[in-house]
Amino acid sequence: MSSQGTSSDEKLILSERDGRAVVITLNRPDKLNAINEAMATQLMAALDAAEADRDVLAIILQGNEKAFCAGADLSGFSDATEDRYDNYRARYNQRKTRAVYRYLHNYTKPVISAVEGFCLGGGLELALFGDFIVAGEGAQFALPEARHSLIPGAGGTQNLPRRIGPALAKELMWTARRLSAADAKEIRLVNHVVPKGEALAKAKAIVGEMEASGPLAIMMIKQAVNRGTEMPLALGFYQESDLAQLLAFSEDRQEGVKAFAEKRKPKFKGQ
Ligand code: COA
Repeated sequence: MSSQGTSSDEKLILSERDGRAVVITLNRPDKLNAINEAMATQLMAALDAAEADRDVLAIILQGNEKAFCAGADLSGFSDATEDRYDNYRARYNQRKTRAVYRYLHNYTKPVISAVEGFCLGGGLELALFGDFIVAGEGAQFALPEARHSLIPGAGGTQNLPRRIGPALAKELMWTARRLSAADAKEIRLVNHVVPKGEALAKAKAIVGEMEASGPLAIMMIKQAVNRGTEMPLALGFYQESDLAQLLAFSEDRQEGVKAFAEKRKPKFKGQ
């Protein structure tokens, strides 16, 4: 197995509450936030805490001004012959640098990636497992794995085509081409481009806009959209209907409708 440990005393992830958002910062600046086992473990712990806190509406992921994340830690890619079958097994559960992506796939709260600088390889794959990306003008995006004779193995070959279409996704992965923030916006890889250094502020402003919405409705919209992309349209309509009906049992839905009738702002409790 790789020599990367799963524990570290270093704080590779910083987590800070900001209003209804939790800002999670990748904090390995000397390695451009390349993700290793310890960082992935800490990231899941931070996401876990935020998901369990009912007051938290959304998560904002960020790096620093030079790099959101330069990908998987390439120094952990040793593969001794005698370890190959263990490594294969480890990809499924033990290796946290894999588990963190699947963890995000099942995450129930909005995850917005506020990207400045490099967003490469596993860094872009991380952002793609989030719900959308907001980029500062200097951001650069690429899946350069093929340059190392790797493939984007953290969901990139699946998530990128679903986001921008298979033809363009293949071209970008085959060429490892780097996209500017403006190029990324043009192909809808990112939702917004803002002046350099302002991606976090933009992400916070979006969470601010979401604050008037019911948190249960936000969760169900995420479930309906994510599941819907994996099923035939007719089944998508059924599951949408089921999720809409599930809300009928919530206090928040009653409060939302009542508040509208009473011409006042609703007070949602997330229940
Ligand atoms: N894994 C491990 N370490 C990484 C890394 C990665 N994916 N990306 C950057 N680093 C480390 C560098 O090795 C260097 O460490 P050192 O100072 O101990 O030598 C440090 O981060 C700074 O990177 P450096 O290459 O010196 O910065 P740069 O500004 O010259 O170049 C990049 C920046 C992003 C172009 C370059 O680091 C790069 O190509 N990284 C790999 C990107 C990639 O292929 N990602 C996909 C991985 S599957």
